Amino acid sequence: MSAPKLQDRLQRLADLIAEKCQGSRCHADIGSDHGLLLRYLLESKIVYRGIAGELRSTPLANSKRQLRDLPCDVRHGNGLEVLHPGEVSSLSISGMGDQTILSILSNHPACLPKWLFLQPNKGIGAVRKWAYESGFHLKTEIWTKKDFQLLAFQKADWRDPAYARFAENDDLLETSQIFGPVFLQQRHASLLKRLQAESRYYELLPKLGVISKHRLRLIHIALRWLADHSK
Ligand SMILES: C[S@@+](CC[C@H](N)C(=O)[O-])C[C@H]1O[C@@H](n2cnc3c(N)ncnc32)[C@H](O)[C@@H]1O
Repeated sequence: MSAPKLQDRLQRLADLIAEKCQGSRCHADIGSDHGLLLRYLLESKIVYRGIAGELRSTPLANSKRQLRDLPCDVRHGNGLEVLHPGEVSSLSISGMGDQTILSILSNHPACLPKWLFLQPNKGIGAVRKWAYESGFHLKTEIWTKKDFQLLAFQKADWRDPAYARFAENDDLLETSQIFGPVFLQQRHASLLKRLQAESRYYELLPKLGVISKHRLRLIHIALRWLADHSK
């Protein structure tokens, strides 16, 4: 078998894992489903060993088929319960919402490896907040052509320097956690587009609820920060 062709979102994730963890001793992909990411990582020799974790039986069977004959265990279970502490050096979770990702990351803290590669489908700010509070430093943020966002985190013992320019007050810190400290500093074109579109949308609504009002306030803080740091 050879390395499969991946859709752009997973290819960018695989490239990110290669950039940070080339030669990873053992990588776990939780919620492996089709198993394509791990197969690519193993066939391309980006990681030496893999563990695919899956909760549901049909995707589990798909992963088993895809990963047969490779140095990879395919394990049935909920989140990190399929791992032993210290067993993996990196892990990925992709294509799920923030609530699922956060419950997976929080339920077995002893099994968290040094490197986390995450692609939340929604609620990315909650994932950044969890990482900030759990001692994982944000190393890279990637915005793909199809508007997926990827995050790489590394375990560390001190405060995350990625937020150094946003730590002066709680509102600015929260704004950077929601919209991304790297994207803000890059003045990422997709972020600018999204902030402007969302702010126009909320400003046209006749009445805003508490959550929308808060979101609009953070959008304004982000736009002001970008205007103040335009040089
Ligand atoms: C939408 S698919 C994403 C598949 C793949 N990671 C990707 O990005 O293309 C989500 C997969 O995660 C699995 N899943 C959801 N919650 C899980 C959990 N707590 N533990 C393990 N697998 C889970 C689902 O069964 C499903 O196969």
